[in-house]
Amino acid sequence: MRESMKMPRIRESEVTDETTFLNRREILQLGSTAVMGATLAGCFSADEAEAESTSTSDGRMLRKLDNVKPAPPAFRIQEEHTSESDATSYNNFYEFGTDKKDPSRNAHSLQPEPWSIVVDGEVGKPGLVPLETILARADLEERIYRFRCVETWSMVVPWIGISLGDVLKSFEPTSKARYVSFETLVDRKQMPGQNRHVIDWPYREGLRMDEAMHPLAILAVGMYGKILPNQNGAPIRLIVPWKYGFKSIKSIVRIHFSESQPATSWNDLAADEYGFYANVNPKVAHPRWSQARERKLGEYRKHPTLAFNGYGDQVASLYDGMDLQRYF
Ligand code: MTE
Repeated sequence: MRESMKMPRIRESEVTDETTFLNRREILQLGSTAVMGATLAGCFSADEAEAESTSTSDGRMLRKLDNVKPAPPAFRIQEEHTSESDATSYNNFYEFGTDKKDPSRNAHSLQPEPWSIVVDGEVGKPGLVPLETILARADLEERIYRFRCVETWSMVVPWIGISLGDVLKSFEPTSKARYVSFETLVDRKQMPGQNRHVIDWPYREGLRMDEAMHPLAILAVGMYGKILPNQNGAPIRLIVPWKYGFKSIKSIVRIHFSESQPATSWNDLAADEYGFYANVNPKVAHPRWSQARERKLGEYRKHPTLAFNGYGDQVASLYDGMDLQRYF
């Protein structure tokens, strides 16, 4: 058996009966997280970074979050938001442990600043890019999205982020770039859950380029009007609202462009359970549970799951002609 297969699988009891009512607790106060200047390398010159920097003189990114554009109607779900305390205390972030409460308990050891991302592969402008350089290239915008975990819990969250497509374009992908993949930080000191081989670290995820360029896909740096808490993937994570939550990789340190489909963590662990596409689909059951219904964090009653998590009119055409039972 491969090392990585020793991971604890999601239990069925977690899927159907877990409620968050006992898990409520006060949110960690991380609002004033600063993003300081980082070392430059690759193709991004120091001058360019300075010109584009969004950091204020004291290096804080917080003020940039004050300049957030409201969510346009197409990107704003008209549903009650999940409470901030639920969304920040019931998490999946195996780098800090596999219990839902582990990330909020343990993620204080993550240092989200300074932060840089390696950009490489089929791309015209590879390099080590400071987060503030990336943030300077796109407007911060609120997005109020449904979020559906493969385990059948869901939430509605006001994220703050930037268009993934705009960021990717700024790196000038080559014509060979058909996929983009992402990696999370590997650092056992900052991420104590990595001392256990539950996943073949780093956590990896990927998208087809046309999916990544879709306007719904964002890189989130905040939620509920504040900087992203560590347990939710600080300082920068992916949000792809029509896909199961495991695609939305946290604490990204690498963006890689490739011609062939990249290996991804959950698909590697159990390809029959977690497809590469992972589009929310109530008609394709997980081998161990139905995906037809979901429970919103903070609620007892379940409600029906929507195809593409309710974003079908915006994204279904990406999959025209594909057998979604096979490419699940
Ligand atoms: N990213 C990393 N690096 N590690 C993880 O364990 N879990 C994924 C996704 N991104 C995960 C991750 C899963 S399974 C889900 S459902 C969402 O993060 C949960 O996001 P949340 O904790 O902000 O709700």
